[in-house]
Amino acid sequence: MTDETRVPIAKAKGRPMLQWVGKRPLREVRSFPAQLVERFASTAPAGAVSTDVDWSGWPDRFDRGGLLFHGDNKEVLAHLLANGFRGKVDLVYIDPPFDSGADYVRKVQLRGASGSVRLDGESHTLGEQIQYTDIWANDTYLQFMYERLLLIKELMSPRGSLVLHCDPRRGFQLRCLLDEVLGPDAFVNEVVWKRSDAHSDVGQGAKHLGTVHDVLLLYVRDRPSTWNDMFSPLPQTTVDNWYRNVEEGTGRRYNKADATGPGGTAKGSPLYEWKGVTRPWRFSRARMEELEAEGRLTYSESGMVYVKRYLDESKGVPLQDWWDDIQMVRGIQRRGEASYPTEKPEALLDRVVQLLSSPGDIVLDCFIGSGTTAAVAQKLGRRWIGADINKGAIQTTEKRLAAIIEDQANAAGSEQLAMESGETPRPAQLGFSVLRVNDYDLQIQHNEAVNLAVEHLGADRTKTDAFFQGTLGRELLYIVGFNHPCSPLDLQAAAHELEQRPDEQRDVVVVALGRELACEPWLADYNRVRPINRIRLIELRTDPKYGKFFQHQPAVARVRFEPEGDAVRVTIDDFISPSIIERLSAQEGVLTPQITDWRAMVDSVFIDAAYDGGVFNVALADIPERRQDLVDGSYIVERPADSMQPIAVRITDMLGEEVLVIEERAGH
Ligand SMILES: C[S@@+](CC[C@H](N)C(=O)[O-])C[C@H]1O[C@@H](n2cnc3c(N)ncnc32)[C@H](O)[C@@H]1O
Repeated sequence: MTDETRVPIAKAKGRPMLQWVGKRPLREVRSFPAQLVERFASTAPAGAVSTDVDWSGWPDRFDRGGLLFHGDNKEVLAHLLANGFRGKVDLVYIDPPFDSGADYVRKVQLRGASGSVRLDGESHTLGEQIQYTDIWANDTYLQFMYERLLLIKELMSPRGSLVLHCDPRRGFQLRCLLDEVLGPDAFVNEVVWKRSDAHSDVGQGAKHLGTVHDVLLLYVRDRPSTWNDMFSPLPQTTVDNWYRNVEEGTGRRYNKADATGPGGTAKGSPLYEWKGVTRPWRFSRARMEELEAEGRLTYSESGMVYVKRYLDESKGVPLQDWWDDIQMVRGIQRRGEASYPTEKPEALLDRVVQLLSSPGDIVLDCFIGSGTTAAVAQKLGRRWIGADINKGAIQTTEKRLAAIIEDQANAAGSEQLAMESGETPRPAQLGFSVLRVNDYDLQIQHNEAVNLAVEHLGADRTKTDAFFQGTLGRELLYIVGFNHPCSPLDLQAAAHELEQRPDEQRDVVVVALGRELACEPWLADYNRVRPINRIRLIELRTDPKYGKFFQHQPAVARVRFEPEGDAVRVTIDDFISPSIIERLSAQEGVLTPQITDWRAMVDSVFIDAAYDGGVFNVALADIPERRQDLVDGSYIVERPADSMQPIAVRITDMLGEEVLVIEERAGH
């Protein structure tokens, strides 16, 4: 992948413009390299994948398949722009956090029948994990969205569309942003998705109406854009009132359409005599004869001619902007698992993807969550790119897509004919890669990290500043993402911010987990002749005053690798996750739980039969479908012929923490 590059971004073109404190244009972004961390490919029979997909424009540096990025989407989008995807994305669907002031939590429970120990009888269940924080100061949220939309626009293909899923509180502001970024002419529809049932936001005595809808803002990059007509079933009243006639013999319901030509001969309707009536007709004589032969004409007592329009041939009504026929995802719905907090129904995405893209098109969702967009795109024969900042989201998406692809590969033999008959497009790909932009290995996300760091340092948090997160004494506080050590680029960003604020007198303290060596000379140089606006750096890992920030005990596993015939038996003997045990013990009101079977703590097991030390190629995936089920723990693994590489086992616990155990091969 390329080294860091600067990616130019076009100016927003629309009017009017929304203003907020700290609004800044985005003229260029930094693009970081991406690291390939995993590959998933099924062994499907030849012909299982569509041959109609045109991969010629796909950047060579990426595998041909789904792409799932772990990282902040600003960096992921910049990476895609810098690496060949500019103008290539046909459909973008995003469902960003709503700035709703809620903390979303993924409910994680242990596996097995006894795993569902409820800890406090309320909504919080065992091992609950903050999935992402959705609290932003107003202006920060707008700047956040503005930057992402500017980047997304650059990725959209000339026929591309964007669907932004939001709630009514934010909808009007986001629409202003979209008008500004894509131009008001790019607006197509505001779709109301009525989530079908009452929302629980109206408690007794509430002085507001229940919110039962979300808003989908539909914009295009240009016109014409990809558009596939869709229809919804006719309402029963239409069926009852319009399709009153029943055909004798067949029982088919129909309505009667006048066969005379609208506008008469002046509009070109042919004039001739039909069964004793001379009129300008809607059809040519030859066509009338065909219709008569097919039994599609019917006559009134006075001899007037009508054409039968059958109910069973009606496509329905063209889709409107009011969607009330799609149920929201509830609790444990998908594959018997606890759902992701804000998971959207596949039926919703199905509609969006079918309406606005064609098989083989590239669909992007850079707030992928549980992977709904990728799942639907995969099922509908589209290519897809997903991104999320949250490791839990990446793991959920990975599992979900691996299962779908396995199903598609298995079905390929038996259902090939059905697929070819045109009902379901064949998959565009049967594999995907997981990439990381920046190093997100640390099991902590930025918002959580910022809060922890602020608390640890005793700093004051400011939520109205789009750049600095608070103050430490008299200094402005800038917390660098904990996913990477502080580099001169981060320091440069702080310096750049100060340049934009000529009246700012204060110094800056930059806080990071670690630092690159090059920071020292950069700081010395920068601070040399500067009486104000000086920058200093606190390194949380080693700083004598603030150090010891993290005390994380990693999970451990005991795994045996034993030859069995030509293959290898891999047996997991034990797995301990101190984080899970700690979380269980920390809860009041519950006795320290007895976990008698290590498998209760394990979510999934992946095996690479020949691990090259870098990319994890999944040869075997053990992901029990239902929460009550446990992983096997014992596997037979075929080593590729002549492979010198060791087998590797990746065990993921119910909190998303991963342990990698690599076989030690004698003589290697
Ligand atoms: C509302 S959820 C999306 C749910 C998704 N539509 C589904 O069906 O599961 C929003 C997602 O955006 C992710 N997110 C928030 N900020 C992000 C960022 N800066 N970069 C990438 N992902 C982000 C969150 O981790 C969360 O998974």
